[in-house]
Amino acid sequence: MTPRWRLGAFSLASKRSTLSPVPLLRALAQNDAPALLAFYNGLSSASIRTFRPLGSKTSLSVCQQIVAENAAPSPSRFDLVACEQGAMVGWSFIERLAGDHPNLGIAVADDRQGLGVGTALILQTLAGARRLGLTTLHLMVVQDNVRAIRWYERHGFVKCGEEFDAGDQLPYYHMVAGTLGAEEAAQG
Ligand SMILES: CC(C)(COP(=O)(O)OP(=O)(O)OC[C@H]1O[C@@H](n2cnc3c(N)ncnc32)[C@H](O)[C@@H]1OP(=O)(O)O)[C@@H](O)C(=O)NCCC(=O)NCCS
Repeated sequence: MTPRWRLGAFSLASKRSTLSPVPLLRALAQNDAPALLAFYNGLSSASIRTFRPLGSKTSLSVCQQIVAENAAPSPSRFDLVACEQGAMVGWSFIERLAGDHPNLGIAVADDRQGLGVGTALILQTLAGARRLGLTTLHLMVVQDNVRAIRWYERHGFVKCGEEFDAGDQLPYYHMVAGTLGAEEAAQG
């Protein structure tokens, strides 16, 4: 499937019915903290088990901080969101922009998974990484999240290490992608 998104207004026509609303991909905006809070705290326990950059639940102040870090003169992170009828249905980010290991995170609302939203987000995130001059992106994925691992591999990521997280008691793979190679792989 090749999703078609409006960018900037980025938009998607996917597997869904042509009568379905068209999600919008855009940068995280100044007034998005409440929507990000609702999105994150609305994820199922299964999704939070595999995607928990903000812990099992988050707060408005944490979401406001994320917005502020995007709006800073030298942003420390780059966040994109997918919105549908005013609701946030997907979120991707690169954090630690200035460090050695810029880190990718991505999640889609449970009832919107498998419809191409994640693919559109990751392609735009990789394009954003290249615009920011990043040459590699890193991520961590729970080892039993097999579908996500295969999906990341299709987008150019390769496993490069393992780690057991004492906090959540789960084994993770570290994965890495060259940003140019990753985008080419995704489009190939
Ligand atoms: C992984 C994730 C971001 C992919 O986004 P998506 O919008 O569901 O994916 P797309 O529709 O663009 O692409 C579908 C592919 O995603 C992969 N995928 C991974 N987890 C999936 C899920 N829970 N549901 C559907 N597809 C999933 C599959 O490879 C699928 O392809 P397949 O149907 O051939 O198996 C999304 O499913 C998600 O948020 N999952 C829960 C949180 C998570 O695991 N995040 C990654 C943490 S490292």
